[in-house]
Amino acid sequence: MQEQDKALIAQAALAYVKPGMTLGLGTGSTTRYFIDAVGKAVDEGLKIEAIATSIETEEQGKRLGIPMRQLRDVEQLDLVIDGIDQIDEQFQVIKGGGGALFREKLVALQAREVLYLADSSKFVRQLTGPLPVEVEPFGQTHVERLLADKGISYTHRETAGEPFVTDGGHLILDVALDRVPDVAHFVRELKSWSGVIETGYFERQPDHVLTLEHGNIKLLA
Ligand code: 5RP
Repeated sequence: MQEQDKALIAQAALAYVKPGMTLGLGTGSTTRYFIDAVGKAVDEGLKIEAIATSIETEEQGKRLGIPMRQLRDVEQLDLVIDGIDQIDEQFQVIKGGGGALFREKLVALQAREVLYLADSSKFVRQLTGPLPVEVEPFGQTHVERLLADKGISYTHRETAGEPFVTDGGHLILDVALDRVPDVAHFVRELKSWSGVIETGYFERQPDHVLTLEHGNIKLLA
């Protein structure tokens, strides 16, 4: 059901892609459906260029024949379309479930508009986490000690029993938010710690969120 909703939302997002656009392509299962749809449209003649937020997305885009560019080659992106993990009533967003948070955030920061695709499971009253925190391996224990000092728990992200390594060669701590009263404030503190590369709290809030409500596609904001 959730997979079907993701596919429907992703397909509907294609309506926001206009010829000539420089498009940011997100990462994750929802975005994977969207990239498939973009690939088909490109095959049928749509002229766009795209910037990937991960190696996985870059490879999918290339496989589908989407003209892929690098972030350094463009001044501004017209639109980024990406998935999310959580969005609260204030439109605060947590991303990074797929581990691509650093590139996703940089691409979003360089975009004129940001559209997130969110099935109903992503909406929460308040952000509950976990919050992905990308750390440089050498700084990992330092960051862990600081978290422990604050009484904040975390888990090491793993994949197939091995540490998960991001495209940038970093590690991810999934940090519990149950003892964090103000996520934005906590994130500002986290980002002052040596060893923290980035967090999955996206300061740049989305311009629009596309979702499915009672079987109908709905654009929020
Ligand atoms: C990857 C992300 C994803 O966009 C987020 O985890 C949502 O994924 P999905 O569409 O698979 O539910 O932030 O880093």
